[in-house]
Amino acid sequence: MTYDFTAAAVLDGPSTTERLEAALQLVSAATAEDAGRPVSRDTTKCAKIMIVDDEPINIKVVQKYLQGHGYSHFVTTSDATRAIDMFRTQRPDIALLDIMMPEVSGIEILQQVRADRQISRIPVVILTAVGDARIKQKALELGATDFLTKPVDPSELVLRVGNALVVKSHYDHLANYSVQLERQVRARTSELMASRRGLVQTLARAAEYRDNETAHHIVRVGRYVGLIAKELKMPEEIIELLEEASLLHDVGKIGIADAILLKPGRLTEDEYEIMRQHCAFGRRIIQQSLESAWERHGTRSQLQLVEPGNAIAWLIPVAAMIAQTHHEHWDGGGYPLGLRGEQIPIEGRITAVADVFDALSNKRPYKEAYAFDRCIEMMERGRGTHFDPQILDAFLQRTDQILQVQIDLADVD
Ligand SMILES: [Fe+2]
Repeated sequence: MTYDFTAAAVLDGPSTTERLEAALQLVSAATAEDAGRPVSRDTTKCAKIMIVDDEPINIKVVQKYLQGHGYSHFVTTSDATRAIDMFRTQRPDIALLDIMMPEVSGIEILQQVRADRQISRIPVVILTAVGDARIKQKALELGATDFLTKPVDPSELVLRVGNALVVKSHYDHLANYSVQLERQVRARTSELMASRRGLVQTLARAAEYRDNETAHHIVRVGRYVGLIAKELKMPEEIIELLEEASLLHDVGKIGIADAILLKPGRLTEDEYEIMRQHCAFGRRIIQQSLESAWERHGTRSQLQLVEPGNAIAWLIPVAAMIAQTHHEHWDGGGYPLGLRGEQIPIEGRITAVADVFDALSNKRPYKEAYAFDRCIEMMERGRGTHFDPQILDAFLQRTDQILQVQIDLADVD
């Protein structure tokens, strides 16, 4: 299975669920293919066999039988109290475990083995006396792999050990293969995310080239958004997501005619009306969902849907939401939807503060750059009308860093 890395596929790429389904398909396809391969009984002859029996003579007899059939790697103990430590340190491929032992019974050892994730999958064959039905049932409940009745029949011993080892070998092989596949899926997913990030930045730069008066505008806005999100104590991955998604806030300006976009001086009301359309253009450029789908999902913050550990998968929906809502005002006087207060998704409210500050503090076709203090004063005037007061406070808490971004990313005349 391969991923489609075309621009369309990456920008409008698979959701997390789809990626997980693809990963599961990969695992099950490989598992099915792998399961068809026979594991040779000969390959199990190098297995490490552990024998626990309080009678040293029993250990010798079992070991001798198995040696006669090609097995050569044994760890043994007649001290039941050492058995669990041996399981953990020796990690045998199979264990033959006597039940009736002084101090610690085979049942207790089996119980501890099955409770320890590191060793719980080791096959354990129980050595028990004839007719011990109650103990057999208990051992089965605890996950015993098989039983051998004492005195041990040599041919039965060899066959049962061989069978258990073949099953174990299949299991190990499939488990390793799954781990390998999981690693591959993770690597491909991170490649996909890197491509998606790359395309977002490319698209943002393309929009920036058209609007040539705002050379570093989008990058500065991204940084300001990140600083506000940090002050709001958002998780690191959300901060990163917002910083990247906000790069596309004005991508819709691609759809505005040069005569309006680059007009020196103030726009007429008609021109301004056209300019306002950049929000809807931006959203449609980023996320090509139908109008009806957009209406159905409304303007709910996309950050609420982010799965921890996989925030970057929401880059496109969050960017689309920012493009759509970054000109809404806290008091409902903004555009294009006239949303009010918390109806405006938080990603849009944060970007509004960052975007306005950058417009005030830099030169535009219709205005000169204002001094920092004047910008702050004008921002304060927008408290509760244009801006969410809480977000404006977060911005004002970070003015030192904001000033630094302004210096580091100043536009070159
Ligand atoms: Fe805008």
